Amino acid sequence: TPLPDLVIVGAGLFGLTIAERCAEELGLRVLILERRHHLGGNAYSERDPETNVEVHKYGAHLFHTSNERVWEYANRFTSFTDYRHKVFGKYQGQVYSLPLNLALINQFFGKSHTPDEARALIAEQASEFDTASASNLEEKAISLIGRPLYEAFIKGYTGKQWQTDPTELSADIITRLPVRYTFQNGWFSDTYEGLPTEGYTAWLSKMADHPNIEVRLETDFLDPATGVADEFKGKVPIVYTGPVDEYFGNSEGRLSWRTVDLEESVVDTDDFQGTGVVNYNDGDVPYTRIIEFKHFHPEREKTHLPGKSVIVHEYSRFAEEGDEPYYPVNTAEDRAKLLKYRDLAAAEPMVLFGGRLGTYKYLDMHMAIGAALSMYDNKLKPHFAEGAELK
Ligand code: FAD
Ligand code: NA
Repeated sequence: TPLPDLVIVGAGLFGLTIAERCAEELGLRVLILERRHHLGGNAYSERDPETNVEVHKYGAHLFHTSNERVWEYANRFTSFTDYRHKVFGKYQGQVYSLPLNLALINQFFGKSHTPDEARALIAEQASEFDTASASNLEEKAISLIGRPLYEAFIKGYTGKQWQTDPTELSADIITRLPVRYTFQNGWFSDTYEGLPTEGYTAWLSKMADHPNIEVRLETDFLDPATGVADEFKGKVPIVYTGPVDEYFGNSEGRLSWRTVDLEESVVDTDDFQGTGVVNYNDGDVPYTRIIEFKHFHPEREKTHLPGKSVIVHEYSRFAEEGDEPYYPVNTAEDRAKLLKYRDLAAAEPMVLFGGRLGTYKYLDMHMAIGAALSMYDNKLKPHFAEGAELK
């Protein structure tokens, strides 16, 4: 069989965007290799067979962007619902509306404040530490929002996310802790927001639904038993979106990640928590959040099995070998390793590294699409359409 024009490792949003552009606009024959049994990467979802509720298999995924080009591009493959994401947080037996806003401040301090009064209160509480000289995450957070809000809404949650007391965490982990002195409690502040009307998998499958695109599932590029690396390396251009350290056999050491354990269950109630996401801010509750998926699609209410709901408890921890890498830990050692991997990647002939795993960066979906469109514009199109060197 003839070689494809381009091989893409990984069928996540980055790889799918590259594949679609190269097949559709340049007419290239594209082969996507994916080690999982499905395409879509971490945005993949499935209907729960019992309740018909769409479950995001790698954690709740909410689409939002202010990038016109990305929004227009995504809308070629799916429409979006008018879902607007909201998050609530439990703390000591009360439920607050997040992010930090005037409703939360009033409820927490048991008194109504005008925006100016709330601003003055928080500024006074934040004066305990100077932001510039904060020596750890706790001091930095207190310097930004004051001790009472920090202790209720940051300390326990952040400690669970990192399995580390915030006094032991670097101040760099947070740059800002925005407080809204309004009642606006939309979680995102982007121009566009919504969920794919027919679900993530319909969207992501449509991107690959092109006569020039072949997707080979359950094929690990790095597993010598599959033979694909030998078949294609050095012979056709490759866009690699797997973990950059794994590509180089972890020669510079492993990059560290956090992962999330997702415990899914079907509960015997129509409505478990009244909303999609509830954070658990108390440090002694072991999970960080509970997701109730049916609330992401209220327009599908009649299609869901009555009397049941699908929920997921999320537990955050450091990833071990074999765990799904979710969030870069990004310590000073990680950054030093990453610089070495970047040099190796730049020197690797005919291979471009992209996506969240290939660049060791947390990317929201719109950022993964945007980064892939840039790689297409700046590297792949010049190479294939104009004969520019691939680097
Ligand atoms: P991935 O989706 O990770 O795709 C990479 C693919 O490469 C995977 O399918 C993997 O199996 C495959 N692969 C790796 N190595 C190999 C190999 N050796 N051979 C073959 N295949 C390989 N974004 C939002 O916009 N909103 C959200 O609410 C949101 N929530 C998130 C929640 C969680 C818990 C996580 C982890 C991410 C979330 N994201 C969210 C981010 C979103 O998942 C990413 O933007 C998106 O996954 C990036 O796409 P990608 O293609 O770079 O990577
Ligand atoms: Na301060």
